Amino acid sequence: MKGVLATTDVEIALSAKVTLDTSMKETGIRAEISAMRRSYGEVGLDKLPTDPVTLFEEWMAAAAANEIIVEANAMVLSTADGSGEITTRTVLLKDISLGGFTFFTNYSSRKAQAIAMNSQVTLLFPWYAMERQVIISGQADKISREESENYFATRPWSSQIGAWASVQSAPLASREELEMRFQGAAEKWPEGSVVPTPPHWGGFRVIPDSIEYWQGRYSRLHDRIRYHRASAKSDWEMQRYFP
Ligand SMILES: Cc1cc2nc3c(=O)[nH]c(=O)nc-3n(C[C@H](O)[C@H](O)[C@H](O)COP(=O)(O)O)c2cc1C
Repeated sequence: MKGVLATTDVEIALSAKVTLDTSMKETGIRAEISAMRRSYGEVGLDKLPTDPVTLFEEWMAAAAANEIIVEANAMVLSTADGSGEITTRTVLLKDISLGGFTFFTNYSSRKAQAIAMNSQVTLLFPWYAMERQVIISGQADKISREESENYFATRPWSSQIGAWASVQSAPLASREELEMRFQGAAEKWPEGSVVPTPPHWGGFRVIPDSIEYWQGRYSRLHDRIRYHRASAKSDWEMQRYFP
């Protein structure tokens, strides 16, 4: 993904401001929050490709090149279960392939249970330092076992052991219990040995039906463009929205 952006784009991205445009008085956190306000910038959403995934790759490359942004591939995943209860958490984007966005997790976790009931999810990339946000909506499906195993094999040993140790989202009596479980798995598969992929661990690929780009602009006249398609086989349509 690197190298997609022109140098000037990267320079603009790196010069992202983190200052507040209102001075904060010592009047308590409520007043401070109310006074937090930034002036948004110079970069606009002008030359738009017909394929929103191409634009995503450009923005991801810019975020990854931006020293201020920590974990550019971190995204907020929201799910709704069968009763409509919404839950949200951060996961890491690990691949863009077959027209979708892949993350890895525990297939018994709360998020995976929600996806089993309702596969429609959203992914939100909060690149605040660049005055940018991308929201992807789509269907999440488990990737193939082979794909999950291929990725698991590339993980550091301690992360592999951690995946065996954690019963993600289940109540845990104490920190010691977690560390004992880690120890048990580490003894079974010592460092240097091949750690098998846990059966409860793997990836989900989100096939997008909507991708919305938001770029902060001056005077709150932000750019907001949403690509939408009726199905994965349909063409993308692009629409600008009031910010
Ligand atoms: C920066 C960051 C990255 C994370 N990446 C992942 C991830 O890739 N996969 C994952 O399962 N959990 C990840 N987590 C933990 C999740 O946010 C969450 O706590 C966990 O998956 C349990 O969520 P659930 O109970 O809703 O299923 C990450 C958390 C943070 C803060």
